[in-house]
Amino acid sequence: MPHSHDVHIAALRQRVTEALAIIVPDGKPAELYDSARYCLTGGGKRIRPILTLLSAEAFGVDTDNVLPAALAMEIFHTFTLVHDDIMDHADTRRGRPTVHTVWGGDTAVLCGDFLLGLAYGQLSKLRSARIGRMVQTFSDTVSRLCEGQALDKIFEERRDVSVADYMGMVDRKTGALLQVALEIGGLAGSAADEDLLALRRVGRELGRAFQIQDDLLDLVAKDTRWGKRIGGDLVEGKKTLLLLETLRIAEGNEHAWFARIVEGNGLPPEDIPEARERMERLGVLEMARAAIDHHSDAAVQALVALPGTDALEQLIRNMQARAH
Ligand code: IPE
Ligand code: IPE
Ligand code: MG
Ligand code: MG
Ligand code: MG
Repeated sequence: MPHSHDVHIAALRQRVTEALAIIVPDGKPAELYDSARYCLTGGGKRIRPILTLLSAEAFGVDTDNVLPAALAMEIFHTFTLVHDDIMDHADTRRGRPTVHTVWGGDTAVLCGDFLLGLAYGQLSKLRSARIGRMVQTFSDTVSRLCEGQALDKIFEERRDVSVADYMGMVDRKTGALLQVALEIGGLAGSAADEDLLALRRVGRELGRAFQIQDDLLDLVAKDTRWGKRIGGDLVEGKKTLLLLETLRIAEGNEHAWFARIVEGNGLPPEDIPEARERMERLGVLEMARAAIDHHSDAAVQALVALPGTDALEQLIRNMQARAH
């Protein structure tokens, strides 16, 4: 018997997915409209729009009134994935070929641009006394997320990335959007400034938990539901928390085995299973799990000051328990 909040969360997810299925009109050139429709209808956990809807509910807003903002969050997220897959040379997303693999890089760039416009269009449908503030905070988020993605790429080439650098990058590339998804729900309702600050704290901690988990699953996911290529971060030479901690702990030959990822051009794909075994032995995977729990607990802790957040807490715990 699922938890009652889980039934509610599943219903919200379905509403978002149904709305996204009809949001891209017919148009020409076909590859532009087809690619935009392809990535809005290809699955995904819909976490960001659900955060907006649950946050709005916590502050007394009917979800119908805030649905366009929730859709804006997911459409913008989808845009970041399309461009992220170009930047990360990823050929699989949500269990299907990436947009640039199907239609080529030029169309994928335009598909992303198109989605960004669509996201702002949805936001403009909101009827709220605080619409100006919503658009401003969203726009700031677009900048922050671009900063994070820029740092993610810059760090690939850098040897001196610290854990603090990593956290700052994650707060931008992942936390910023989770923060604004929660904040816009509060802005649509009765949230006071201190509530909005608390929501932002939740988003930052959740972003850290979520990205560390994404980095961990990138290496250990077995389930086909993962939908992305396993080990891609090591192949690309990403400075994930896992790699930074490995380099801190490993000694001698073991350190040298991993240091070539930083010194050269990432790891050859055939070495991924060995990397996983070595990281397991070093205790790095366990450390990552502890970090996920720590930041998930901090996110839940930040919710305590807010009213009506049981369903949000349930969502955070579900995300923490995710194994794929
Ligand atoms: C992937 O986000 C990008 C990260 C910030 C880690 P999700 O894991 O939410 O991707 P979908 O939307 O469920 O596919
Ligand atoms: C999240 O980082 C990036 C975005 C903000 C789009 P990743 O590059 O790890 O995301 P995935 O693993 O490709 O989904
Ligand atoms: Mg990336
Ligand atoms: Mg990526
Ligand atoms: Mg990833």
